[in-house]
Amino acid sequence: MKAVVLAGGEGIRLRPLTSNLPKPMIPILNRPFLERLLLRLKEHGVGEVALALSYLPEVVKSRFGDGDGLGVRLFYPQEERPLGTAGAVKNWAIHLNDAFFVFNGDIFTDLDLGQVLRFHREKQAKATIVLTQVEDPTAYGVVEMDPSGRVKRFVEKPPADQANSRWVNAGTYVLEPEVLEHIPAGKHSMFERGLFPLLVEMGVPVYGYPSRAYWMDLGTPRNYLQVHRDLLLGGASFIGGSNLVGQRSMVRPDGEMVQEGVWVGAGCRIAPDVRLKPPVALGPRCVVESGAQVLGPLVMGAECIVGAGAVVDGALLWDRVQVGPKATLTRCIVAGGVVVGAGVTVGPGCVLADGVVVEEGNHLGDGVVLWPGKHLEAGSLTRA
Ligand code: GDD
Ligand code: MG
Repeated sequence: MKAVVLAGGEGIRLRPLTSNLPKPMIPILNRPFLERLLLRLKEHGVGEVALALSYLPEVVKSRFGDGDGLGVRLFYPQEERPLGTAGAVKNWAIHLNDAFFVFNGDIFTDLDLGQVLRFHREKQAKATIVLTQVEDPTAYGVVEMDPSGRVKRFVEKPPADQANSRWVNAGTYVLEPEVLEHIPAGKHSMFERGLFPLLVEMGVPVYGYPSRAYWMDLGTPRNYLQVHRDLLLGGASFIGGSNLVGQRSMVRPDGEMVQEGVWVGAGCRIAPDVRLKPPVALGPRCVVESGAQVLGPLVMGAECIVGAGAVVDGALLWDRVQVGPKATLTRCIVAGGVVVGAGVTVGPGCVLADGVVVEEGNHLGDGVVLWPGKHLEAGSLTRA
């Protein structure tokens, strides 16, 4: 089975985390999201994947190459300028001669692809759109169906008064190659505003597959943090019922579980008086110094250093982050190589992009965002 992964968006809402890293490469429990997606596809029998990239493609190509290391054959269709979701698939159409999957490259889910494919075949659909239920559908593609599951209406990001269903496009499709004939070649075109409404209007059998699998669009810092909380806490409660991620062991942190809910990578040095509150996952070769507190749900990448007496609480740290003595980081996202000085506080919702340096004595209140390479001199931001 073949698949196309749409991974060309610029990840604007995740900036500045995506200033130098394409969205599909952001780490989920210390491994690129795309790596986790490709391994999942392999498990479900997908052997050939076209990665439709247009933003920072070299970062992905240099990491995954022809896919040999993952056991999936990877291809990189050329997209000179963004062709849109449908245009990007049309661009690969000559290689698609059987039913195939399409994935939005920013959805974290444990959806059972085999079941979706069976549903598609049973219904003799030309297109099957996987659906998930959300509280506020206005940020998504809203899908209305008849009782048999046939799609009657597809409206992308409707105003609230026109959102007549809470079932939305979950960003996974099974398509028959013939539907691609209705996408204009070489032009920007979207499934959501183009092909899907058109197929429905033409009376082509398009079906919705309502899924209650775990589902999260990684496209915002809030959701990105939430996925980690859900994975680490093992219980994701969301609309449509409770779905215990932990029981299904969707994704486990790497490293050795040294106590219940504490995963530690190889070569870490943790002072004996450090307080570790589960669930926490530390990448390899981290150093946590005396008197520090590491409070979960928390993830730390490789080679992070947490200074003496520092408190890191509910945060997401990428690789090589240095937290100075007595600094306090709370429910924030800190990208690779950031240096946080002694006594600095970083509040909830802050995002520090790669290479940021915050010298000692700064206090970053809620939601402060620092762009790549920003250097805050000592004491520039004091408490309000
Ligand atoms: N190759 C390529 N070229 N990929 C693209 C392009 C393009 O021009 N434009 C967008 N993509 C990719 C993005 O990288 C992302 O993985 C996916 O297509 C969807 O784009 P988003 O920008 O993330 O769209 P969205 O989140 O606002 O809405 C989409 O996803 C929702 C579910 O999260 C739509 O498909 C909605 O209908 C859906 O509900
Ligand atoms: Mg998205």
